[in-house]
Amino acid sequence: MGFQTGSLGLTGGADRLLRDLIHERTGLFFDNGKGDILTDKLSPLVVERGFTSLLDYYYLLKYDEAAQGEWLNVMNALSVPETYFWREMDQVRALVEWVVPRWFEQPGAGPLKIWSAACATGEEPLTIALALDEAGWLGRAPIEIYGSDASTAAVEKARRGVYRERSFRNLPAHLRARYFTQEGATKTWRVDAKLHAAIEWRVANLLNEAEVAPLAAAQVIFCRNVFIYFSDQTIGRTVRSFAAHIRPPGYLFVAAAESLLKLTTEFELQEVGNAFVYVRQPGAG
Ligand SMILES: C[S@@+](CC[C@H](N)C(=O)[O-])C[C@H]1O[C@@H](n2cnc3c(N)ncnc32)[C@H](O)[C@@H]1O
Repeated sequence: MGFQTGSLGLTGGADRLLRDLIHERTGLFFDNGKGDILTDKLSPLVVERGFTSLLDYYYLLKYDEAAQGEWLNVMNALSVPETYFWREMDQVRALVEWVVPRWFEQPGAGPLKIWSAACATGEEPLTIALALDEAGWLGRAPIEIYGSDASTAAVEKARRGVYRERSFRNLPAHLRARYFTQEGATKTWRVDAKLHAAIEWRVANLLNEAEVAPLAAAQVIFCRNVFIYFSDQTIGRTVRSFAAHIRPPGYLFVAAAESLLKLTTEFELQEVGNAFVYVRQPGAG
């Protein structure tokens, strides 16, 4: 490795400072057992910047106003953009078969806004758009779909709309044939233009209130498979900022493995269709 973690006599100290700063700004928590993983992921960035210690890199991120761009590199280095089409479909079905019809049967219902927060390379919001199209909603009702992630690399891929085999592991073959076109003789597939155009892509960090506020002003938020990387503290912070901006009826979908029961009073767990969803409680929190 091209630098020492224990410079200036702070053996182990710089790792901890950096770990805590990253936790505070990104939500991602590398507990004691995972310190080495963090150092390994960041060391190429430290070397690229020409630093010889983690502590110098910490100072750059913490105090240098011009370090905003560096935070994007940090996010790209730490992002785990593991995702695929048709993942945990009970929740998407609950959205399409239950939430959407109830919304539009209200007299004078305005547009329905759906935000896929931490969408990685876009498979989740595209799955939502695809399922809405199959049910005849897309283009017929005013539905706005936003997909965002803190990783600029992931969002760039989402904007390109081209996918490899591993993204299709769960998508039924007839839907793949209907909505994707193979790119020449390559092993890549381009998503249907209508689905792709149904989504607005953004870069947004869930711990950045200014970036979250406009997106979270939605009736439905999907935030799945990201809280597994957060601490209880940063999950709580994120959920509170969702609660502050989400619009009635305020549905928050998290992955089945991510319980918020001990972390929020603003949302209550309810069964909708065949899925569980956290619903904003008016007046709570
Ligand atoms: C495992 S993927 C989940 C993708 C999709 N939601 C799904 O369930 O298939 C986790 C994503 O969370 C993103 N992420 C991590 N920390 C984030 C943060 N603070 N703000 C926004 N996105 C973040 C990562 O960049 C990564 O793309």
